[in-house]
Amino acid sequence: MTSSWKIPASSILFAFLLLALFAVGSSSAQTEQVVRLDGGNCTYAFGVNERGELQTLYWGGRLGSHDSIPPAHSLPEVASFDSPYTTTPQEYAGWGAGLFTEPAVKVSFVDGSRDLVLHFVRATPSGSQSLDVLLKDISREIYVTLRYSMDPESGILARSVSIENLEKQPVLIEQAAAAQWTLPPASYALTYLTGRWAGEWALNQELIQGGARVIESRRGTTGHQANPWFAISRQGGRDTAAPVVADEEHGEVWFGALAWSGSWRITVERTQLDAVRVTGGFNPFDFGYKLKPGEHLETPVFYGGYSDHGLGGASRLLQRFEIARILPQAPDPKPRPVIYNSWEATEFKVDEAGQVALAEKAASIGVDRFVMDDGWFGQRKDDHAGLGDWYVNRQKFPHGLKPLIDKVHGLGMDFGLWVEPEMVNPDSDLYRKHPEWVLNFPGRPRSESRNQLVLNLARADVRDYVEGSLDKLLTENEIAFLKWDYNRNWSEPGWDQVPVDEQRRVYVEFIRNLYSILADLRRKHPKVEIESCSGGGGRVDLGILHYADEVWPSDNTDPFDRLSMQDGFSYAYTPQIMMAWVTDSPHWLNGRSTSLTYRMLSSMQGSLGIGANLNHWTAEDFATAKRLIAAYHSVQRTIVRGDLYRLISPRDGSGMSATETVSSDKNQAVVFAFANATKEGRGFPLLQLEGLDQDAEYKLSSIEGKLHPETPASASGAWWMRHGLQLDLRGDYQAAAVKLDRQR
Ligand code: DGJ
Repeated sequence: MTSSWKIPASSILFAFLLLALFAVGSSSAQTEQVVRLDGGNCTYAFGVNERGELQTLYWGGRLGSHDSIPPAHSLPEVASFDSPYTTTPQEYAGWGAGLFTEPAVKVSFVDGSRDLVLHFVRATPSGSQSLDVLLKDISREIYVTLRYSMDPESGILARSVSIENLEKQPVLIEQAAAAQWTLPPASYALTYLTGRWAGEWALNQELIQGGARVIESRRGTTGHQANPWFAISRQGGRDTAAPVVADEEHGEVWFGALAWSGSWRITVERTQLDAVRVTGGFNPFDFGYKLKPGEHLETPVFYGGYSDHGLGGASRLLQRFEIARILPQAPDPKPRPVIYNSWEATEFKVDEAGQVALAEKAASIGVDRFVMDDGWFGQRKDDHAGLGDWYVNRQKFPHGLKPLIDKVHGLGMDFGLWVEPEMVNPDSDLYRKHPEWVLNFPGRPRSESRNQLVLNLARADVRDYVEGSLDKLLTENEIAFLKWDYNRNWSEPGWDQVPVDEQRRVYVEFIRNLYSILADLRRKHPKVEIESCSGGGGRVDLGILHYADEVWPSDNTDPFDRLSMQDGFSYAYTPQIMMAWVTDSPHWLNGRSTSLTYRMLSSMQGSLGIGANLNHWTAEDFATAKRLIAAYHSVQRTIVRGDLYRLISPRDGSGMSATETVSSDKNQAVVFAFANATKEGRGFPLLQLEGLDQDAEYKLSSIEGKLHPETPASASGAWWMRHGLQLDLRGDYQAAAVKLDRQR
């Protein structure tokens, strides 16, 4: 008889209690057990096979509540070269017993053995919607607890692992994933994000072929090079010659995001039997975490979700989940204030008079928050000096920050400040006092980037110094916001103050200390909001987003380049956190000239900021910005919290692009459209809108740009979605924005 425990969203607790009743020791009983988790439109199931391995059974659209899932059976040996241990899709496979697919965990024992074979011990509820499954090596005292927590709304499953050493000797963990996900044999396409400084958020799509695709960071931080997110779209049956491009609004999509801001790796492999396995967690490159007897290692969380509404549906689900469960102010984070940031206007040349002049101008157009960027501290004149010395430069601010902050408050704005706490310039008081505080290998060069070195935050004294100096800064000044920057990656990641076999713990302890500093500062200063910036978008992931209210997606603020970056960003992250500044034209990076309205509309797709040199603006510029900031405020909630539909992609050299966001109650929609280069007299394509209530009546109004003369002032949702919206846009770098408001 099969006992398949079904867990409807409403009664997950009940099902988990049932689950607690079994603790399987012998293999005969194990074949009967199936664990099923349901949430949103998703079902996830696994079971224990006859050998005692935990085996994936199902991940996909929600099954009927009475459906029973057949029990786990390990796959037969197909050839002597591929044992069932390697062909059976395990939930968390130890490297041992002839595993040739990517392992979840790999260890070395002191006697030279490197064989780890994990079998099921028991499953226990750990909360109303979560469950722990304990695995143990077949002979050694290595225990692995798999944690599962299903979000009932979205069906997004949070998975992580704790590895515990109860041997009498230490053990070295050489590889530790947070989770492994398996999809059955079929044809799939992989979507993932890559980039570089000033070129983040490029969307890549390819058919998943035999072998493995690795996306990773070896940089000690999340990195610009790739982002820890993936989506996999079903392309058809097993033998289908599938198109490579995944569908935006239709079809099945599985996606995942790793909550870790250190070196990470996600491996997507198509096995010899055509299943797809995704393994993600700490990057095994240069990894080595020694566990003494009694110690354990916690992995980050790997979130996974499912949508049957294409990549668009997947990103809407993930964006809602970030708002509801991840962000520090979840489940109802405040819309971001419209900020002014001084960086592109002044760079390091900040002083009280100059910042006051900018603040007055920013206030006049309706900015909510004034942020002073780099240059205010230590002996900072350029990027050669000062990092680490988090006290005010008295030449630039003779009376401290208070007069500027008071002025900003008097203008009706709050005040934000730039910091880069994990770094030090060799030309700084801090480095002169503590040269031993940086990551380095003794006797080897300390490679500088941007004239700076990385502080070893894994050290308790460094951690305490960083937290202490920021705590003091926030205690002594009325600061509402920190822009937390991080402008290089690691080199020579040595930590010679601890024994050699513990030095590579730096990859884990550094990030844990970063998170703990952020958590402490938020607790001590609950009104302070934080932006994660790393020379643009080098540190954006679901780990840092537990502590950061927003992110800086790129140092590239060219409004045309930003369209495709913002498009890529939106696959993995909500526009709520996507800061977008309006800066000067011609743009410093590409020399491209664009109108202020084009720049404003490009930035209004996310959380709006102004980063231009306001000292150069005309009266007309001020009037335009003031009008559009007011318009933005009136629709901001729909833009940053609504359901986003990417109507026309700006990718791949597209001459046009358009997005639409619909408020969750479907009362309002906002559409942005960009004609970047129309050709051969063709007009802007008819936009068939999405997500409206087809029976409701919606009134159309322009936020910016002309409406087509024949476009009705009001029509049904069905009309806007089926007939479509015609905009009058042509030429180069033209933009329009409209809103639709429900009338009845
Ligand atoms: C890199 C950031 O991305 C910029 O916005 C600016 O803050 C500079 N650092 C300041 O050094």
